[in-house]
Amino acid sequence: MAQMETIGLETDLSLFKYDNLEQLPPGYRDLDEAARTERIGSALDELGDDVLILGHNYQRREIVEHADFIGDSYALSKRAAEADASHIVFCGVTFMAESADIITDDDQTVLLPSMEASCPMAGMAEALQVDAAWAELTAADPDSEIVPITYMNSYADLKAFCAEQGGLVCTSSNAHRAFEWALERGDKVLFLPDKHLGENTAHRVGLEDSTAEWDPWDPEGKDPEEVADSEVILWDGYCQVHERFREDHVTGVREAHPDAQVVVHPECRREVVEAADVVGSTSTICETIEEAEAGETWAIGTEIHLAEHLARWHPEIEVLPLCGDACMDCNAMRQVDPNYLTWVLEGLTEGTERNAVEVAPQEKELARVALDRMLEV
Ligand code: 13P
Ligand code: SF4
Repeated sequence: MAQMETIGLETDLSLFKYDNLEQLPPGYRDLDEAARTERIGSALDELGDDVLILGHNYQRREIVEHADFIGDSYALSKRAAEADASHIVFCGVTFMAESADIITDDDQTVLLPSMEASCPMAGMAEALQVDAAWAELTAADPDSEIVPITYMNSYADLKAFCAEQGGLVCTSSNAHRAFEWALERGDKVLFLPDKHLGENTAHRVGLEDSTAEWDPWDPEGKDPEEVADSEVILWDGYCQVHERFREDHVTGVREAHPDAQVVVHPECRREVVEAADVVGSTSTICETIEEAEAGETWAIGTEIHLAEHLARWHPEIEVLPLCGDACMDCNAMRQVDPNYLTWVLEGLTEGTERNAVEVAPQEKELARVALDRMLEV
């Protein structure tokens, strides 16, 4: 069994989910791309089938070029579940690596090249906070069965909470099926943490007139009884990368490019989704461009790296970022830089597991129930 390094740093780790945060050693900080590519290549040759690199669609070019598989969070978790490799290097964010650790076997290790890759939206619904809200909501409406659904973008303890309360996990590609699953078993849904995905999904399943928001940061502003009257209760979380898109970005792109079509992620605001031609997960966005005819113009409403990949992968299509230069990259995804990848891979060649993500056993078992329910819907 390889040795695990956990060098604690004297720093405020409150932003980060894991405390085995290690700084990149100086020798790895200024590698040039050619040298780094060669070093990654030789580490991978040496490691062979012992390592599988998974890359989320939002990772930068220098990362996705080394990935064995690139995809959305649903496809990546399925791929992790099927993997035989003893080490899975997950180039994504903490909640994705946690999910991979939950669904892989105990003798497989999941490594996240940078432990600083924490999705802010996942931090907007902490299990303790949700537990308190749950007590208020269930007390306000004791005759209704509420089924909690948490978006994949959440931590393992919240996934475990959902399993315990009869709920499940979903991703942007199966949220509608998770709603259907939940409403076959209960009367209403508590959707966490992304209010926009929750609202967009409520529209998709015909519950748009029965939604209410739950703002955990405004104790005065919420009325549990009013909220409990709705069939879909939306936790007030959001992604800042996707909230940036506005309806006038869609109208603006259509004015400037009359033939343009628009595809957006369901983390965008409702009015943006309504104005778009296609809405879907990052895989749906990729498929939309793959299936487009040469010469078509598509504006992409999601994280900027994916728009850049699509422009590079499909030069026959005119790919535009939906809000031009104002489109953001995801600061959490950006933490995984290729120097970290080199360091983690070279560590493995020396028998050292750096930045292993290990979910606590009691959380793992329950969170797995919620993830398995998702994989079955
Ligand atoms: P996907 O599940 O569509 O890949 O999205 C994950 C995500 O974090 C979007 O912001
Ligand atoms: Fe989180 Fe938004 Fe980044 Fe996705 S794009 S990982 S939701 S911060």
